Amino acid sequence: MINIRTHDEIELIRKSALMVTATLTEVAKFLKPGITTASVDKMAEEYIRSNGGSPSFKGYNGYPYALCISVNEQVVHGFPGAYELKDGDIVSVDCGVFMNGFHGDHAYTFAIGNVKPEVLKLLRITKESLVRGILQAKAENRVGDISFAVEQYTAKDNGYGVVRELVGHGVGRKLHEEPQVPNYGRRGDGKRLKEGMVLAIEPMINLGTKDVETLEDGWTIVTADRKPSAHFEHTTAVRKGKGEALSSFVPIESAEQANAELNSAHYGATTVASNIS
Ligand code: MF3
Ligand code: CO
Repeated sequence: MINIRTHDEIELIRKSALMVTATLTEVAKFLKPGITTASVDKMAEEYIRSNGGSPSFKGYNGYPYALCISVNEQVVHGFPGAYELKDGDIVSVDCGVFMNGFHGDHAYTFAIGNVKPEVLKLLRITKESLVRGILQAKAENRVGDISFAVEQYTAKDNGYGVVRELVGHGVGRKLHEEPQVPNYGRRGDGKRLKEGMVLAIEPMINLGTKDVETLEDGWTIVTADRKPSAHFEHTTAVRKGKGEALSSFVPIESAEQANAELNSAHYGATTVASNIS
């Protein structure tokens, strides 16, 4: 059964989703080469709790952290840890917040410093495929219309690998609700979308093969060819007949831009100092 949410329930889901946006905005400001992914997780958990939320992922099926942090060839569900971010990495940060009885679930893939153009393109196309999916999340469309739009733009138009083992999902009182939202499929297939449904749409798109493996930790998903993978996710409502993202990339992108400028200015100065010493 797919839950239909009232206006007031959707506004509560929006609050949770925007708390995730606020957390990812803090993450955007915090990221730089040399910091550990564990430090990002710690900062985010403190931020969520100090704002009256709790991290949805921590304890979910035994998952041990507030964030999933997946670097380069890691697709999703990466464990924060001792790994130090470095120039040229891409890092998917996936976050859930539970507040007022509802979850928000939202993810963004960040570029650290100078990332190769072909990988920046993967980020751009994956982000846009999410937007194209949301545009299909209209009342009376079907789940397959979302799936098709994502697959068409990423796999067919751009030659990327679409991960099939993991999918988007309904989100609400539980983190994962019906229906599943695959990132591949056929137009007109699957359940019909109705006003008030809330879906986490989350393309996971690989530069190379679509095939993935699970690491020894039982959680971390990596690409089979170890080429990079991107992941963007919005909590999305079917509202006023259309797909409406309840989470937002706007403040995350502003913070990402400001942080890139700050860091490049900083590295410029460091370079000069080390050159003259
Ligand atoms: N956005 C991811 C998902 O929907 C996050 C789940 S990670 C888990 O699958 F730790 F909560 F499982
Ligand atoms: Co999700």
